[in-house]
Amino acid sequence: MGVFTWWAEGSEKLGLGELEKLFKEEYPNDTFVKLAVAGGAGSNAKARLEADLNNNNPPDSFQGHAGAELFDYIQAGQLQPVNDVIEGLGGSAVFPQDLLDLITVDGNIYSVPSNVHRSNMVWVNPAVLEKAGLGKEAPADLDAWIADMEKLKAAGVETPLAVATAPWTQLHLFESVLLSELGADQYNALFTDGDWNAPEVKAAAEKFGTLLSYANTGGADDWPAATDMVIDGRAAYNVMGDWAVAQFASRDIAEADYAYSPTPGTDGTFLFLADSFTLPVGAKNPDGAKDWLNLVGSAEGQQAFNIAKGSIPARTDVPASAFPTYQQSAMESFTNDTIASSITHGAAVETAWSADITTAVSRFASDRNVDGFVSALATAAQANR
Ligand code: GAL
Repeated sequence: MGVFTWWAEGSEKLGLGELEKLFKEEYPNDTFVKLAVAGGAGSNAKARLEADLNNNNPPDSFQGHAGAELFDYIQAGQLQPVNDVIEGLGGSAVFPQDLLDLITVDGNIYSVPSNVHRSNMVWVNPAVLEKAGLGKEAPADLDAWIADMEKLKAAGVETPLAVATAPWTQLHLFESVLLSELGADQYNALFTDGDWNAPEVKAAAEKFGTLLSYANTGGADDWPAATDMVIDGRAAYNVMGDWAVAQFASRDIAEADYAYSPTPGTDGTFLFLADSFTLPVGAKNPDGAKDWLNLVGSAEGQQAFNIAKGSIPARTDVPASAFPTYQQSAMESFTNDTIASSITHGAAVETAWSADITTAVSRFASDRNVDGFVSALATAAQANR
């Protein structure tokens, strides 16, 4: 039974390892084949998966994001419904209805959610902040944050903000900046009928450019290396999804030695994404795949996996007390905050649209042409809505 993910290295591999261990214990007659392709956010895995699906050689289950990304696979006829699995697991009594809606088309449910991640988080090294006399409390908005970065520079901190060269990590930063400038309602409307030419989008583009001017231009290929810059004191901040907390944990960093907060200006909004697992059409071992889906969706599986992964359970009946401090705060925020959808991680827009946005972000990261960037974003919306 082959399971395809991009959780191939570091703390992500440890998270998947928890599920693998439980699967082997609970289903000793199944074999588990790990088909993992490294690269954060599926940056390499998705192309490989597409080729395998197009060649009628699907894995028995693969990782897909709840929301627009999953609808791509459903519309392409690549997934089988798994209503029976979800029902058996407890259905809407244990999974939030809003989340089920993101994986349902015409009454059919097409995946089993394993976890919920938060995108709009800044990971902070307080010892680096101290060099500029800055305390732990988070700046209220982007302008205050930029002012702090200026102080860090003046105090001799070469790289206030760590950013990786992988284009998705730059989009990841940009979606937080966009949310901060627009607020949740205007941000969410961008994916339906909102105006990408609005002055707030231009302001976000300008601030994104300013933030990049405080960032490293190389030296970190993907998110683990950028988060490590913060862990190792080579940068003060990294905006990254909360899988980053698992990186701190896997490197045995004590909770007292790092800090985190929502990206400045986004407090009160949970920028959402969720991983889920599928049953592809043509899976060679559908029974094994269903065993896997049952484990992924079980309370026991969700507890073990999410503690290691930095995420929170998709199920609502897993005790918060079993989790580290960060995840407890994320659970509270997920329950009480406004929800916005991540662009980078498949929740807000389908793959073609996010690819166009990524291209625009990458171009902007090198040419810093604000008007060109905003017009490329508006064109992408027009082409993909
Ligand atoms: C996201 C995924 C997360 C994490 C992250 C970094 O797309 O949903 O679980 O793996 O990429 O690779």
